Amino acid sequence: MSLVPFIFGHGPWLEGWRHRVPAMADVVGGDGAVVVDVLDADSTPFFRLMGAANARAFGDLGMPAWVQLDCATLPTAMVGFARRARDLDPALVDDLRSRASLAVVADDQLVPVAEYTALCTPVAGDVVGFSLFSLLPGLGVRAKALALLVMGSQTQTGITQIDNIALKTHARFGPLEVVRLGVEVHSRPQTTLVYRLMVPDEASLTAMATGTTTRVPFSGATRTISRAELRAGDRIVDVTGGSVVVAD
Ligand SMILES: CC(C)(COP(=O)(O)OP(=O)(O)OC[C@H]1O[C@@H](n2cnc3c(N)ncnc32)[C@H](O)[C@@H]1OP(=O)(O)O)[C@@H](O)C(=O)NCCC(=O)NCCS
Repeated sequence: MSLVPFIFGHGPWLEGWRHRVPAMADVVGGDGAVVVDVLDADSTPFFRLMGAANARAFGDLGMPAWVQLDCATLPTAMVGFARRARDLDPALVDDLRSRASLAVVADDQLVPVAEYTALCTPVAGDVVGFSLFSLLPGLGVRAKALALLVMGSQTQTGITQIDNIALKTHARFGPLEVVRLGVEVHSRPQTTLVYRLMVPDEASLTAMATGTTTRVPFSGATRTISRAELRAGDRIVDVTGGSVVVAD
């Protein structure tokens, strides 16, 4: 699988982040990662395809174009993996083309297939992550790892839903400490949870971003509980079916 890591945004920090993208066995051609400038007119198809990919992954929680510009690509960057259109299933490309309202997608067009966005907070190294998606199995963990790695993140706040399989992906990075379960102001107030994560070290993130490993091991005692039993303060280490594995 030929992948192209991307940093999609606009700002002087993007080149520095690009240089932090590690070498990967499945990244072929060119000099590896690319920076795509959201304010470059040529990047419009990439912008639209990003929105289309996000909509395909999230359905009714898809990101509006103005949020993608104002809250993701201008203040920080969307980081992830793309493939050339010619290297993707034509049915997937056509679905994204249609959602993006593009007449055609050129064969060599970069199409984002996995992405994660993290926003810096006023605390150095602390980020709020959102919008994780992967259209090709196995790239979810890698996209999140790559984004956290290039940003030098040390702690992360995340927002997800208790019934979302993405919890499995997020928990691969270490225990997720539940800060709030049920968030009145979210579009999905009942099922949304906010968690905090101590971001793994650089070596671990590199191994996850490159696909060398898919998790940070957790060796402590655990117990398995139902989702209904989960409480603020619990530390989620995995999800299995309808249950949650928490640190004891
Ligand atoms: C959640 C999502 C990013 C996972 O991406 P992915 O590339 O399929 O999976 P990951 O690389 O993250 O895999 C993590 C683990 O979860 C498993 N997994 C992924 N989807 C699964 C599913 N539907 N059921 C069971 N396990 C699943 C993977 O097999 C992997 O386990 P393994 O290493 O033992 O094989 C992807 O399904 C997605 O885009 N979902 C829609 C958008 C969304 O809800 N995002 C989350 C916002 S918080």
